[in-house]
Amino acid sequence: MRTIRRATAQAHPNIAFIKYWGNRDDQLRLPANPSLSMNLGALRTVTTVTFLEEEGPDALILNGILVEGPARDRVEAFLNHVRRMAGFRGRAVVESNTDIPAGVGLASSAAAFAALAVAAATALELALSERELSILARLGSGSACRSVPPGFVEWVAGDRHEDSYAYSIAPPEHWALWDVIAIVSEQHKAVGSSEGHRRAATSPLHTSRVATAPDRIARCREAIQRRDFESLTEIVETDAIWMHAVMMTSRPPLFYWEPATLMVLQAVRRWRDEGLPVAFTLDAGPNVHVLCPVEVADEVMRRLQKVPGVQRVLSSGPGGGARRIWNS
Ligand code: PMV
Repeated sequence: MRTIRRATAQAHPNIAFIKYWGNRDDQLRLPANPSLSMNLGALRTVTTVTFLEEEGPDALILNGILVEGPARDRVEAFLNHVRRMAGFRGRAVVESNTDIPAGVGLASSAAAFAALAVAAATALELALSERELSILARLGSGSACRSVPPGFVEWVAGDRHEDSYAYSIAPPEHWALWDVIAIVSEQHKAVGSSEGHRRAATSPLHTSRVATAPDRIARCREAIQRRDFESLTEIVETDAIWMHAVMMTSRPPLFYWEPATLMVLQAVRRWRDEGLPVAFTLDAGPNVHVLCPVEVADEVMRRLQKVPGVQRVLSSGPGGGARRIWNS
């Protein structure tokens, strides 16, 4: 009887509180600095990988549509690592379903490669630890390593492939911290993060951002451990602005903000002055993530829906790690 090499896994995207921007090694995706994030439980990607005996190109089916081009090539390059580890040569069919809009700064690739790493490693019976899965996911997309462990997660930068991995600093239940996401554009970004990472070092602000990141990591970790929203606000906003300052001062410059982005940032600052506990952060895109305690999440959502230029609002609390699911 022929063995069926197939497994399904799910993963959530994550929002970074301390950002990853720039690599020391682009191939291995060894980051210039450590980073820290929270998984977003309300959004997820579910991926089934089926390995066949025959050799040939891999197939990628995303939300029911056969995808060709760079996205498929990236998946194949990633699966080559898994095949090498397992000593297997057959082609794969990857079917992935997600409710996360791609390429708009909502970490769709983090969830995608975390789910793919777990599904592919399981299908080929690699029996990897959480740390090893995190290291593997990193090769697909740096931030994907942070979607492997549950809850609040730190990515240790490391200086070798084996030492650059993410681990959980607190489980999802630790803190009911909400991310209310103001979508101001769903257009696919013109410059993706892989190219952005390559440009980071051309900014005169890069070295200082990287040098001070460990200190922000330590303060952010402590704020999470103490559930101290005020301290978190200060660190998270500083870090996000710094990353966007690096992007804007890179050569050639990268400008992800839209006019509505600034409208939301200003509104968040105004609401905070009025006493509402809110903090903003942004990934590589124009959409604004507004963090707040769960008690005010509905109020924040209502207010964001009224800001001119906001098209829709998503909301999520902390989520678990990437894991196998048994529907295949
Ligand atoms: O994993 P990548 O290559 O998509 O990089 C993600 C970079 C940011 O989302 C902008 C920041 C981060 O730490 O998630």
